[in-house]
Amino acid sequence: MNFKEYIRVIENWPQEGIRFKDITTLLNNGPVYKEAIDQLKQLVKDLKIDVIAGPEARGFVVGAPLAYALGVGFVPIRKSGKLPSQTIEAGYDLEYGKDKLAVHNDAIQPGQRVLIADDLLATGGTIATAINLVEQLGGEVVGAAFLIELTYLTGREKMKGIEVFTLMQY
Ligand code: PRP
Repeated sequence: MNFKEYIRVIENWPQEGIRFKDITTLLNNGPVYKEAIDQLKQLVKDLKIDVIAGPEARGFVVGAPLAYALGVGFVPIRKSGKLPSQTIEAGYDLEYGKDKLAVHNDAIQPGQRVLIADDLLATGGTIATAINLVEQLGGEVVGAAFLIELTYLTGREKMKGIEVFTLMQY
């Protein structure tokens, strides 16, 4: 399936010069959304994953259905101040902006095999921060799965030693 047909490209949003990849048009199509999650499942099913961690917000719409499909747990990595129990936090730079991510400090057990899932790999700042948080808790990041990779931003280079799976490349 050519998933790119279902991605809407928005010129100059949220800033001049950015060609934003809008996944809502893919999510809106049930069979295509299901096929995307099913294909990611096929790519990662042999990694012996214990749990999937996904960063807010769009990481939830990829990570949670993938966790359900694999029958493993899901750990939300949230923007700072959103999680109710004790957290650890880490700051990072975005393609356009800055932010801080947090995870509950008991969400991942030492030695668990963790897959990180998100909609899009751009600079890799978000995923590098998610990896940092998982590793601080003693988890082993065994892979990272995305719908979209912006190859020209070379985010993959921030993930040396981790298997990266993507359905679409721009
Ligand atoms: C977007 C996207 C990824 C990240 C990719 O999230 O969903 O998580 O940016 O960029 P990077 O590889 O350069 O870090 P955003 O922070 O916009 O949050 P949202 O999902 O809540 O909209």
